[in-house]
Amino acid sequence: MAEYDLAVRGGVVAGPFGAARCDVGVRDGRIVALAERVTDAARVVEADGLLVLPGGVDAHCHIEEPAPDGTVHEETFVSASCSAFAGGTTSVVCFVPQWKGQGVLGRYEDYRRRGAGGMLDHAFHQIITDPTDAVLEDEVPRLVADGVRSLKVFLTYDTLRLDDAEYLRVLATARRHGCLVAVHCENDSAIGWRIDALLRAGLSAPKHHAWARPPVVEREATHRAIALAELVDQPIQVFHVSCAEAAEEIARAQARGVKVWGETCPQYLTLTAADMDRPDFEGAKFMCSPAPRDEEEHGRVWDMIRRGVLDVVSSDHCGFSYGGDAGKARAGRDAPFTAVPNGIPGLAARLPILFSEGVSKGRITLEQFVRLSATNPARLYGLGPRKGAIAVGADADLALWDQNKRVTLTNALMRHAIDYTPYEGMEVTGWPVATIRRGEVVMRDGAVEAEPGTGRFLPRGPYDFIKPRGVLPNNFDAAGA
Ligand code: URP
Ligand code: ZN
Ligand code: ZN
Repeated sequence: MAEYDLAVRGGVVAGPFGAARCDVGVRDGRIVALAERVTDAARVVEADGLLVLPGGVDAHCHIEEPAPDGTVHEETFVSASCSAFAGGTTSVVCFVPQWKGQGVLGRYEDYRRRGAGGMLDHAFHQIITDPTDAVLEDEVPRLVADGVRSLKVFLTYDTLRLDDAEYLRVLATARRHGCLVAVHCENDSAIGWRIDALLRAGLSAPKHHAWARPPVVEREATHRAIALAELVDQPIQVFHVSCAEAAEEIARAQARGVKVWGETCPQYLTLTAADMDRPDFEGAKFMCSPAPRDEEEHGRVWDMIRRGVLDVVSSDHCGFSYGGDAGKARAGRDAPFTAVPNGIPGLAARLPILFSEGVSKGRITLEQFVRLSATNPARLYGLGPRKGAIAVGADADLALWDQNKRVTLTNALMRHAIDYTPYEGMEVTGWPVATIRRGEVVMRDGAVEAEPGTGRFLPRGPYDFIKPRGVLPNNFDAAGA
């Protein structure tokens, strides 16, 4: 019998703090050797001329998620797995919804079953929309015992938002149980007030979505979310930061030693409010919240990434097609922007866009790319050391990456169940040619081969992303990685 099940030979292995040419030896789905030469393997994958990256960890994906307003994410765990593997991602953290007036455990069990039907390794954030005593005192501890170590809250959206008192109760519960809290930060009353004024003035096209949610509404809610978290002494991550104004709030809090982390997404580095002004209601394809900004803002968000203020890049993948009964245009092409479901698909596009716009264009280093796309989210969400890095003992989750390959993004390449990609026509340099999940080649040259039902649920430990006062999170100590 061969010593290794798999050898990945001849590639340049990229880690969070450096890259080196070496072979990777895999046994029983785990990395057991990193050596100049790995021989005696049952299967060999040649990686000459390729980068060997840790499989992407996407800590913010909406998959198979129904909403109380009737919107349904069309992406299933199977189609999401195909899309993730096509783009070099091997693990996701997605969401279990709670609807007001209901508990969480029943839906959680349902999500465990749904997730188990896919091919992706997956963990869950529990969304809290109705923080009753029963939910916080009886149900959350049972989720934590099952390895669900993060709670997600919204400060906006009619059916999802918490007021400040409710948010404080969630923070206090999270603190008692060692959970991280992820927060959607926009001021709901301010948005509602703007929407009323816009609609009364007859300004109801997709582009007016951005007019309703300017950066100040994000900045105010980010400030408040951090201040209340500071009051409770509870770590939070601010989701999908779109602008420097909001990131500055995070930077100031980090400088005070507050445990707050910031995530951004490819849409806030590439898409603009002008995209929502495309004719024939096509602008709806770019509607997400916060709204895409402009190219100057993209530059400022890159600065915040380089400073380490924003240290995770997720997709915020949302499975809404454009057409069809559940799609963005379901209410008709004359419908007001308020009738368009928010969110855009991006699971497969995340790594290629971050690599191309970041590494290929010289905005970030390869090591920063690895940290932003895999190591940092894995550590922040308690998935390390098994996920997010190429190390002996870690799961053999790898993306073999051709850094010179030029690709024009098309919807077909995304391999998702959605009928469009907002990145159609974008040129990228750098592309995954193979994806390996726990030692199994699940994607090769765009062809996904993985058996539904092979994705594993990932019980998580507490967040493990130490940020001593004054030390920016992107500079954390390599010894702990
Ligand atoms: O527009 C967005 N981002 N929709 C998805 C739900 C959320 O806010 O994360
Ligand atoms: Zn959100
Ligand atoms: Zn989201």
